[in-house]
Amino acid sequence: MRQDRRAPFVAALEHARAAAYPAGEYVGQESFLRAAEIRRLAHRAGIGPGVSVLDLCCGTAGPGRLLVAELGCGYLGLDCSASAVEIARRLAGDLPCRFEQAQIPPVPDTRVDVVLLLETMLAFPDKPTLLAEVVRVLAPGGRFAFTVEEGRPLAPGERARMPDADTVWLVELAELRAMLGAAGLTVTWQEQWSVAHHATATALLASYRADAGTVARHVGATAAAELIAAHELWCDWLGGGRVRKFAVVARKGVDR
Ligand SMILES: C[S@@+](CC[C@H](N)C(=O)[O-])C[C@H]1O[C@@H](n2cnc3c(N)ncnc32)[C@H](O)[C@@H]1O
Repeated sequence: MRQDRRAPFVAALEHARAAAYPAGEYVGQESFLRAAEIRRLAHRAGIGPGVSVLDLCCGTAGPGRLLVAELGCGYLGLDCSASAVEIARRLAGDLPCRFEQAQIPPVPDTRVDVVLLLETMLAFPDKPTLLAEVVRVLAPGGRFAFTVEEGRPLAPGERARMPDADTVWLVELAELRAMLGAAGLTVTWQEQWSVAHHATATALLASYRADAGTVARHVGATAAAELIAAHELWCDWLGGGRVRKFAVVARKGVDR
């Protein structure tokens, strides 16, 4: 998804995505998250009525729209893709959500109770700079709730096999925790979701293979082949333990 043309991807993948998730678990997410996991992370982050949420890298905002509709939180979604933001706005309809196009970092000036970063920590090569921006906009006691792909950085051979490898920056858990601590964030909850995300990646791969002709017609044969190649690698890596998936909530200290 390197070019800013989200609409053909959304159209191409909608059927396959909807078919891949268990009943009730697909809410327009562009990731391996299930609706139940989005709700669980939101609960752990204390999202509820009147809580202000900043959703970094929201994409078309399936998770954000779910949270606003069910929990009544305040919501601003940011994404670098103008077309994703446009789709998110349209799909949000009358929901009280706001969206802005923004390349992160920096994070636009604001003050919020919760920062969400779902399925996109991977895309940031410089995580300390990102974390400093998150802390800057969090209110004292605010929570940073995110998912993260954990493991050793990709070796050159692995980078060569992964499409768009310049958006794949794994981090080891000990290093991530040290970075969070240095930024002034204390982990209050952490759960491993590798098994569930391996199952979701496997179901998405099967679904994309079944719809390969349709996907290629919408987005071109090269992009369709890359989508499948990337999911093959995620299935291997999540299934074999090369990459682990975690959900984390970290709280900003009151003195920052
Ligand atoms: C895998 S999608 C996840 C979308 C959403 N969080 C979800 O779980 O459904 C990643 C999104 O991050 C956006 N993105 C990646 N790097 C970004 C950056 N540096 N600044 C803003 N958006 C970014 C992409 O445009 C894409 O919409």
